[in-house]
Amino acid sequence: MRIIAVDNYEEMSIKAAKIIASQIILKPDSILGLATGSTPVGMYKELINMYKNRELDFSNVKTFNLDEYYGLSEENDQSYHYFMRKNLFNYINVKEKNIHIPNGNVADIEAECENYEKVIKESGGIDIQVLGIGGNGHIGFNEPDINFEASTHLVNLTQDTIEANSRFFSSIEEVPTKAISMGIKTIMQSKKILLLANGEGKADAVYGMIKGKISPEVPASILQLHNDVTVIVDKEASSKL
Ligand code: F6R
Repeated sequence: MRIIAVDNYEEMSIKAAKIIASQIILKPDSILGLATGSTPVGMYKELINMYKNRELDFSNVKTFNLDEYYGLSEENDQSYHYFMRKNLFNYINVKEKNIHIPNGNVADIEAECENYEKVIKESGGIDIQVLGIGGNGHIGFNEPDINFEASTHLVNLTQDTIEANSRFFSSIEEVPTKAISMGIKTIMQSKKILLLANGEGKADAVYGMIKGKISPEVPASILQLHNDVTVIVDKEASSKL
């Protein structure tokens, strides 16, 4: 693992955007794996600025998001479809047909999960996967468990995650209790991984990911087995290392 220590959120976001930008410059038809949540928002802002300054062209880029809540329509303002449009896609020239996010609002979830895996494979696989990390060590919505779930699947969110994500909803009762998430194998098959972590709430998870034993109880610890992981951490998130 390559650990890049930075002072703050802004520095983390700028460095992360530069890494994604160089990926796109080197391979204009890159397949990007994307995340939602508070962590990557600053990086997305930087990428939008680079696009506006004509430093980046997303016209041949394909994207695959990590996850989506179960049972929310794409138009729901809490869905990850909505989040991605609001924080990135509406402001860059990525083609609609090249955007992929699991659909959490279908009758046949199993078929949706299988198809998501198939489309990732057919695209040639993810070149760089952006990850945040949950305070409980989750990546995507792969929650602490006794096993690693390999491929895209329906997840029961843990109480920790429901509480953490309730900040985006008007009440905790509104937070979906299930989500569709890429699996651990899906994530591990990405050619490169870029994980961002900021704030003291991530310090234990960051410690477990980098120094802890590899265990499904801290899902991010599996990243120790990937040979091209870059972690950008601010002072608070790295305080326990
Ligand atoms: C989001 C995702 C999650 C988040 C994690 C951290 O697509 O897969 O694993 O990255 O929950 O969330 P934030 O960034 O809001 O602290």
